Amino acid sequence: MRLISGFSKLDKQEKINWLAEHFSTDPQAFSADLATWQHPDDGVQRVVDGFTENAIANYVLPYSIAPNFLINGKVYAVPMVIEESSVVAAASSAAKFWQERGGFHAEVIGTVKLGQVHFQWFGEPERLREIFPALRARLLDSSTDLVANMEKRGGGILGVELIDFPEEPNYYQLRVSFETCDSMGANFVNSVLERFAETLEAFFTDTQGLSDTERDVEVVMSILSNYTPDCLVRAWVECPISSFADLARIQGMDAESLARRFAMAVRIAQIDPYRATTHNKGIYNGIDAVVLATGNDFRAIEACGHTYAARDGQYRSLSRCTVQDGMFRFELEVPLAMGTVGGLTALHPLAKRSLEILGQPSARDLMCITAAVGLAQNFAAVRSLITTGIQQGHMKMHLTNILNHLGATPEEAAAAQHYFQAQTVSFSGVRAYLEARGERREARGERRLDASLRFFP
Ligand code: MEV
Repeated sequence: MRLISGFSKLDKQEKINWLAEHFSTDPQAFSADLATWQHPDDGVQRVVDGFTENAIANYVLPYSIAPNFLINGKVYAVPMVIEESSVVAAASSAAKFWQERGGFHAEVIGTVKLGQVHFQWFGEPERLREIFPALRARLLDSSTDLVANMEKRGGGILGVELIDFPEEPNYYQLRVSFETCDSMGANFVNSVLERFAETLEAFFTDTQGLSDTERDVEVVMSILSNYTPDCLVRAWVECPISSFADLARIQGMDAESLARRFAMAVRIAQIDPYRATTHNKGIYNGIDAVVLATGNDFRAIEACGHTYAARDGQYRSLSRCTVQDGMFRFELEVPLAMGTVGGLTALHPLAKRSLEILGQPSARDLMCITAAVGLAQNFAAVRSLITTGIQQGHMKMHLTNILNHLGATPEEAAAAQHYFQAQTVSFSGVRAYLEARGERREARGERRLDASLRFFP
């Protein structure tokens, strides 16, 4: 029976046993395998299990470092969590390239977070506008206990607006703006909004001088908005076009042509949504990896960025490039609602390490670092696309994965890396190459790395 009630009430081993029995062709191997994906320290495992319901093991992704990021004059080694081959290598290579050209520059344009209380009200719209100042005062008054701590840290509620939508009569929203300092602030924002919803209902019930119709209010929902266009950061790099000379020469181009082709590639992503989506995906290869490594919410960050990319009605590139007066400038403007205190940042053991590696950044610093990595990733991708194509870098990493999978020794791997520089990489080709050398570990009776190596020994 594959349906179950009360799954969440089973302990972890019972969950694994039930899964093994009903969904695996080899229950014993299944249970044994999952047992290897538990953290050896029970305390750490308990913390990780506590993040979600029904955790049965840890799903491992590489925790990597992209060093040499010079951002606003400070050098960072940036932690990245990503599974895609070549992303970290590309970020590191772009970091090195720009470190020799003044590094990345970044500035926070704003840090405003938003939330909404959606409600229906059945009186005349003008009347609602008339009484709104009194309502706003009552809302703010009702939330003083919730905002006290945030205000001490320099944040709090920045404003409350009343918005109506002519296409949906009787529907209104309170759009509330917040400053949440170094925290992402989701709990704070949602708590305030739910208090506002209660206050809204009480206001219409007990305010003097309202007609019966004007007392009817129905709160639909209260929730933060992940669209935060004013929680925005700009990162940029710039250099004389002439400093592309070496890079261009390798490609048989001159520096000016390379810079212009780069700018053209970015303009294509400005005007064509098909290209823009892929272009921005490359930016989020970098951004998401830092967001994950620091315990932030990559779904929120991506959702917001894509809406921002379509803010004028067409989905466009988040980055821009100019080539003029002998200078190349490449810039990324992206909303990033990130935090460095609270939430997963304080709970996930490696998120804490990431923040340590980054020098305990403020949320504003982290926005700058993350935007710089997004820009670096975009630079590396476009640079490859307009020169060698990306398959060269991808295939190098792909080859490493195949070699690991086949249990190649370091010597075999080095020889294969050399051999496949001039050959097409394919799984069967690499296997044939290793077999032909007659040097496979198995043949020598040595342990294969792929089957026996486990993340948590
Ligand atoms: C691959 O993950 C990302 C790229 O496709 C981005 C781009 O095309 O700009 C290389």
